[in-house]
Amino acid sequence: MRYNFLLITFCFFSLNAHNIAIIGTGYVGLVSGPGLAEFGNNVICADIDKEKIERLKRGHIPIYEPGLDQLIQRNVKNGKLSFTHDVGQAIEDSDVIFIAVGTPMNEDGNADLRYIKAVLKTISEHMNGFKLIVIKSTVPVGTGKWASDQLQKWGINKQKFEMVSNPEFLREGSSVNDFLRPDRIVIGTESEEANYIMNDIYASAFKDGALPLNTNIATSELIKYASNAFLAAKVSFINEIANVCDATGAHVHTVAQAMGMDHRISKHFLKPGPGFGGSCFPKDSQALICIAQKKGISLPVVQASLITNQLQKIKPIEKVKRLLDATSLENKTIAILGLAFKANTDDVRYSPSIDVISVLQDERAIIKAYDPQAMENMQNIFPDITYCLSPEQAIENADAVIIMTEWPEFEKLNLKKTKSHMRQPVIVDARNLLDIQELKKAGFHFATMGNGMHMQ
Ligand code: UGA
Repeated sequence: MRYNFLLITFCFFSLNAHNIAIIGTGYVGLVSGPGLAEFGNNVICADIDKEKIERLKRGHIPIYEPGLDQLIQRNVKNGKLSFTHDVGQAIEDSDVIFIAVGTPMNEDGNADLRYIKAVLKTISEHMNGFKLIVIKSTVPVGTGKWASDQLQKWGINKQKFEMVSNPEFLREGSSVNDFLRPDRIVIGTESEEANYIMNDIYASAFKDGALPLNTNIATSELIKYASNAFLAAKVSFINEIANVCDATGAHVHTVAQAMGMDHRISKHFLKPGPGFGGSCFPKDSQALICIAQKKGISLPVVQASLITNQLQKIKPIEKVKRLLDATSLENKTIAILGLAFKANTDDVRYSPSIDVISVLQDERAIIKAYDPQAMENMQNIFPDITYCLSPEQAIENADAVIIMTEWPEFEKLNLKKTKSHMRQPVIVDARNLLDIQELKKAGFHFATMGNGMHMQ
């Protein structure tokens, strides 16, 4: 059997260009598919959402992700990349199936595997030959084994497939670069042959310097959660330090800079802000707690990082109140600059702006919001607030401005002009974007994260 497998491997995979199906065209699939095509593989991206696929075929990219349109265009043009809504056909036409569907958070904090299960079922119905099944979605430890058991339960012979875990480490907003030039590529399998094929699929990235990490499936699955929970804790840590800086007169930027000079700490993910958001850190930290809980293990550090994050998200409101010397923001006009959970994305999932807007609504404030990319997505959550066409329009007659996302265009705000259009000169810069000296010069009452309150 092993010989058979090697033979099959040799026939199908010795040409270097593998036939790959990517199931799911969300943030992960839509970057991984074109990325694997760029590495020289033949890729078909499949999704049951027919309308989305039709739009992709017409060249319309459904998400905002810098560089993605060129990557897709280039690989469609050279015949390496195509799209289909016929998931079954894509599976039959491919030797390697990457599963890149969502694993959202359940109400109890566990990852919801219903979309993974649906894809596995479709795979089981289209097994026309040996398939390597690669889980790229973030899934709890043990999912690879569970998927294998599930397929066998549906009558698929274990000789007909091999499972692989290949987590992604893509940051929204820079995911094209993260995919094409990754620090490391983690490959978890229980089979040498599957490992060989996976290393071949990524050969071009390894040639460019990416480091391979070959391990078993469970380890690979845990690496993803451990990495995200660690980075999330790092952000919560610096946010706590920023709060201490606010209270003591220390400067958080310098504290973080000096911490980062120690290579054991590193300078990355030490920027204070209004708390982490996005579809990954909150969900994966919570899922890791659930995974451990099932084994009777508690994770107080990870838990604390989530608690700190929840408190951090409403810090901008506390700061506005202090600057306005108000106990309530009723009837105050607040301009929110930035709705996306970070810059260079249109994603608002778990964005701190959601918490800030909710509190402002509870307090009956008048909310004017602007974001260069994320307003359409936020309109689905808050249809009733005022969305503005520019930062200037949002600022007009505002009692306070809160910068929630680090979009470069907010850095260039003309502070003198801004002040002249506001009812009161109050800014909370929750991303430490603006120059403190310039804010002072323009005569603002302002607060940043970790540099104290400045009342003129
Ligand atoms: C994160 C990880 O960085 C990726 O490696 C991972 O693949 C991805 O999750 C995922 O699991 O799919 P992402 O959520 O897109 O990527 O964005 P990050 O750049 O990691 O930022 C996460 C949050 O932390 C954002 O809200 C950001 O504003 C915040 N953050 C980040 C800070 O507040 N300070 C920092 O110094 C860094």
